Amino acid sequence: MRFFSFFSSLGLMAVVVIGNQLHTEKITLREQASFPVGVAVSPKRIAQSEYAKVVGQEFSSLTAENVMKPQYIWTSERNYDFSKGDSLVAFAQARQQQVHGHTLVWHLMQPDWLKNTIESYDSATLENLLRDYIQTVVKHYRGKVVSWDVVNEAVASNGDGMRESVYLQKLGDDYVARCHQYARQSDPDVLLFYNDYSIASNPKKLNTILEMVDDFQARGIPLDGIGMQMHVGLDLSLDDYQKALDEISQRGLKIHLSEVDIKVNSNGKQTTLTPELAESQRELMSEIVRRYNQLPEENKFAITFWGLRDNESWLTNHTGFPQWPLLFDHDFQRKSMYQGFLDGLETAQTTVDK
Ligand code: G3I
Repeated sequence: MRFFSFFSSLGLMAVVVIGNQLHTEKITLREQASFPVGVAVSPKRIAQSEYAKVVGQEFSSLTAENVMKPQYIWTSERNYDFSKGDSLVAFAQARQQQVHGHTLVWHLMQPDWLKNTIESYDSATLENLLRDYIQTVVKHYRGKVVSWDVVNEAVASNGDGMRESVYLQKLGDDYVARCHQYARQSDPDVLLFYNDYSIASNPKKLNTILEMVDDFQARGIPLDGIGMQMHVGLDLSLDDYQKALDEISQRGLKIHLSEVDIKVNSNGKQTTLTPELAESQRELMSEIVRRYNQLPEENKFAITFWGLRDNESWLTNHTGFPQWPLLFDHDFQRKSMYQGFLDGLETAQTTVDK
């Protein structure tokens, strides 16, 4: 049996030659990868039929880009609204997709009522409120969500110690560990991740996180994996990336490339995704996937993209320019970056024609 892949008007096709019969079928990421491939979505976007079709065909894991964050669930001290997250879970269940929970505790996207009152709480009051929030949410999604980013971005942006957030100030250095314990008390099976950015590009930040991991493991604090967000550019150091993969996997943890996008317009001067930029993006995607795919099976959790189409990326507002950072273009067409993902899996042995 010989296997080819090629781009056609229907997108990337596989040609499987069995005997003298050609069988063509549409290749999809979820069937090609040996690990879950995910995408960050919103209820509004998955309500669009074409969008829902592509997400259902290509991906085996979903993350809520926003609606499972405290700002959307935590409506007042001890009241919660799960409706938006529940609609996303229902969508995923209907398509045999797993759901990754993002995120229980973050210094950003807090509900307005909490932003307005948090400074007035004493430590014990805030600890009890946060514990009840974590345990209520984890209990609600028990059996529906396979994993949680328990605390998001708690390490200082430059990697030098912990971020001086209101949680650190009021709850002390060990609040991250206690949040993990609270989550574990409410679900013995859910995978608990620590999620952060620049882990593959800031050695100091990687080291601070590894120190936290070593401390957690020494004390038996529940931690199953690390989310490396991977909001990267074409200047990503593959050596730094590889070192992060090695150090984290050697500690027996699962690795989630949790928010992947590859920006290509760092100086804001690009007005279109040129063939040269598309090729550079494809090559980097291939390397990111290839090195991830070489991890031992037990260390691979998922690769999740932070959006489906280039035009929907958070990066446009964040950087002020188009970045063409994702796998699909505005018309839901697969980009060269998509081929790069397959190349990294070493499944697309040849590309008959682009
Ligand atoms: O829902 C409101 C809408 O009602 C309002 O009209 C509109 C204009 O103000 O704002 C909408 O809320 C926005 C929300 O996204 C939903 O679109 C918020 O203003 C906006 O701040 C929020 O941005 C999200 C950001 O996290 C919040 O910091 C991005 O979509 C989301 O991609 C981004 O994701 C984060 C991860 O959670 C953690 N890692 C970094 C990543 C990028 O910042």
